Amino acid sequence: MRNLNEDTITQAVIASLGGCGDSRLRTVMTSLVQHLHSFARETKLTEAEWQAAIAFLTAVGHITDDKRQEFILLSDVLGLSTLVTAQNHAKPAGCTEATVFGPFYVEGSPEYAQFDDIANGARGEPCFVSGYVRALDGQPLANALLEVWQADEDGHYDVQLVPEDDGTHAHRARGKLRTDANGRFAFRSILAEPYPIPHDGPVGAMLDALGRHPWRPAHLHFMIEAPGYETLITHVFRDGDRYLDSDAVFGVRSTLVAQWVQQPSGTAPDGSQMDVPFYTLDYDFVLNPKGPGR
Ligand code: BEZ
Ligand code: FE
Repeated sequence: MRNLNEDTITQAVIASLGGCGDSRLRTVMTSLVQHLHSFARETKLTEAEWQAAIAFLTAVGHITDDKRQEFILLSDVLGLSTLVTAQNHAKPAGCTEATVFGPFYVEGSPEYAQFDDIANGARGEPCFVSGYVRALDGQPLANALLEVWQADEDGHYDVQLVPEDDGTHAHRARGKLRTDANGRFAFRSILAEPYPIPHDGPVGAMLDALGRHPWRPAHLHFMIEAPGYETLITHVFRDGDRYLDSDAVFGVRSTLVAQWVQQPSGTAPDGSQMDVPFYTLDYDFVLNPKGPGR
């Protein structure tokens, strides 16, 4: 393996993987090397460009910590997250579609009862959310676990706000709740608003250089689990949002777009009296049964 040149280097690297005992790793790395080398050949990558790419990835690494995952953001804005989600979650027609997870899920959020206010002080116009979780045949799924998370009216998730004195973040506009015996859930929160993904780092600079904006259309995140069903990670998007057709992370699916309806002040779905107008969202989820090996 000497005197490798432009024409022989790819095969030599692939041959070097022959001793890898993990056949899946060998398959993935062989393909990665082939595509990476093809990319360099096709673009006639210069040394300056190679160096800029290394500097960019180094900056992505440097800004990443346990609160900020710039690599996932990079995957998101390049459409890789949507591609991987789509190819791993093909479902029968009628099931609720999955979309990207995003970086703002937090484990250990509080569990709420039906009609509780999960906003917990997050700023925004009041919004009452309800719906059913069902199987494909329409059967209601009782006791399904829903986790919900969303940004406030300024477009910030709780984890992006200034922490409390002890360095932690109060859980705001996020929480868990369970469907009742009829498969129904209901909670109070705040109106979802569009927001820009974190764009003060290398990924934001890349979007700028590419002439792209960092905005996501207004949405609510859901993760729904029920025994015997594939866990559903998805969003519900707000109809009419100006970014529905230019989501910075390519996550919008038409079946996930729903109406947030503005209601006049008066009796709210939880029976309380609202002295300000509020919004309602009604959206049903259909889970995919687990297949063999899933
Ligand atoms: C989100 O919706 O929370 C999100 C998804 C991808 C990148 C950034 C944010
Ligand atoms: Fe989000």
